[in-house]
Amino acid sequence: MSVPGKSRPVSVPNIIARKGGAPLVCLTAYTTPVAKLCDAHCDIVLVGDSVGMVLHGLPSTLGVTMEMMVLHGKAARRGVETALLVIDMPFGSYEETPEQAFRNAARLMAETGCAAVKLEGGESMRETIRFLTARGIPVMGHVGLTPQAVNAFGGYKVQGRGEGAERIRRDARAVAEAGAFAVVLEKVTEPLARSITQEIPVPTIGIGASPACDGQVLVVDDMLGMFSDFRPKFVKRYAELGSEADAAIESYAEEVAARRFPGGEHVFVEAAPGASVGGNR
Ligand code: KIV
Repeated sequence: MSVPGKSRPVSVPNIIARKGGAPLVCLTAYTTPVAKLCDAHCDIVLVGDSVGMVLHGLPSTLGVTMEMMVLHGKAARRGVETALLVIDMPFGSYEETPEQAFRNAARLMAETGCAAVKLEGGESMRETIRFLTARGIPVMGHVGLTPQAVNAFGGYKVQGRGEGAERIRRDARAVAEAGAFAVVLEKVTEPLARSITQEIPVPTIGIGASPACDGQVLVVDDMLGMFSDFRPKFVKRYAELGSEADAAIESYAEEVAARRFPGGEHVFVEAAPGASVGGNR
């Protein structure tokens, strides 16, 4: 599909140029096959630290390590040809000092081949984002509900209601001014996301935010119906692969128990005398 304003392969300047233009399409991916599926349709493929909850069964993103992000980043890289590959910096890998953030961001880029990193936080991350971007590391910001701060928030609550709105606006401004090429707005009220999108000069990528954002992101396993531990309002299920997989596994188990699988078509026969042996038949 050719959409005006879209160019491939996608670069950081291409993403910035899409401010106010054709909406940016972004999904998470943590493995080669899923990254390949997303690459065909997305401008940005994000190796989110949601991988900890979605694939590793962790209770939050706090236990995600650099090693996990490198491993999944390399896997996603093998599936991405033209989208922009962005990798999340995990909790504890960037908050201490700008130097610590640089070391870990440089490691993610060097070892995985990703084009950019994403980190959570607004005003408190201003200096770090400035430090990274001045040294050639493109940064995507993430404000509003920042899941790595779940304990400080006391849960995964909607952000930006009442007085909280001005803090989020300041956070988004700070991140943009510091040089982020795009900003994720997560679970903030719709009017606030709309107004921040109008105000800041770089694209906003909404998740539970507003259709007015410059792009949208979802966790791919959520929208495919593969991950059901949480079901936030903002997730639209485009498929029910979890139930389909459950039904398929149930059928397999029944057929194995009843010796109906494998059938004649799944087993190998003796070679006829003189016929060549080997092969897959
Ligand atoms: O970790 C993640 O998947 C994310 C997106 C939901 C934005 O940060």
